[in-house]
Amino acid sequence: TEQNTSETSQNVGNFTRHLPDIVIIGVRKGGTRALLEMLSLHDSVAAAQSEVHFFDSDARYQRGFEWYTSQMPLARPDQLTVEKTPAYFTSVDAPDRIFLMNPSVRLLLIVRDPVDRVLSDYTQVFHNQLQKHKIPQPIEDLLLRDGELNLGYKAVNRSVYHPHMQRWLRVFPRDHLHIVDGDTLIRDPLTEMKKVEHFLHLEPQISEENFYFNRTKGFYCLKEQGHERCLHESKGRTHPNVAPEILQKLCKYFQEPNRKFFELVGRTFDWKV
Ligand code: A3P
Repeated sequence: TEQNTSETSQNVGNFTRHLPDIVIIGVRKGGTRALLEMLSLHDSVAAAQSEVHFFDSDARYQRGFEWYTSQMPLARPDQLTVEKTPAYFTSVDAPDRIFLMNPSVRLLLIVRDPVDRVLSDYTQVFHNQLQKHKIPQPIEDLLLRDGELNLGYKAVNRSVYHPHMQRWLRVFPRDHLHIVDGDTLIRDPLTEMKKVEHFLHLEPQISEENFYFNRTKGFYCLKEQGHERCLHESKGRTHPNVAPEILQKLCKYFQEPNRKFFELVGRTFDWKV
């Protein structure tokens, strides 16, 4: 269904809610929260704090652009707004729907070594289960079926990036989408964020001053106007130990998908395979 995107701005004094200029589309566990937080260090960016799930959920999409706008942050007229919903990357409907909203929207995708992403995905579900007082399954039970890699396991599936990427590139020109290297963002956030600023035509503003390495957390945390903050404790969790022969199966499996992804996006990443 087509929706009218005009007159969907909502005013509060000098600040306005407007449809996002930038969408972080995924991938799940790629470092999407870190990317959003780091991007909001920039004075010209206003970020929606929660995941809106507008384009991947029929029920929400049917609420229309006015509802979507109401989920956006208040922003000055000169600010770009951004929202992140990692489920967009794997959603069949999201590319067309986002294009319909704004064909010149800027997309950000953050990817991570697919093997690490599987372990991170498992760890996320593990903690969700504990929270719901359920007993999580051991990772081996999910990764293996009859001694072979279980390709039906969602976490494995979601790490096969190229079919999803292909869908986005059928709708959006390659230069409307910037890929952030999630592994580099962990080790050297400034380098990745400078590339993001450049892609978004933002004045270079994010600097060394904005980051410090927190030894307790084992990750970089943020500094903004003298105020220090780390990401939530659910970001940067310990992953399960997996038997080397299972890791080997995972690595072997991702060899071909990774090659296809590199070819599709025209660059490589420093992954295990
Ligand atoms: P792990 O918890 O598995 O280490 P998402 O926000 O998309 O769910 O991604 C979560 C991942 O962001 C974390 O996965 C972590 O590795 C990564 N990350 C990147 N930079 C981070 C930072 N500065 N602090 C905490 N986690 C960070």
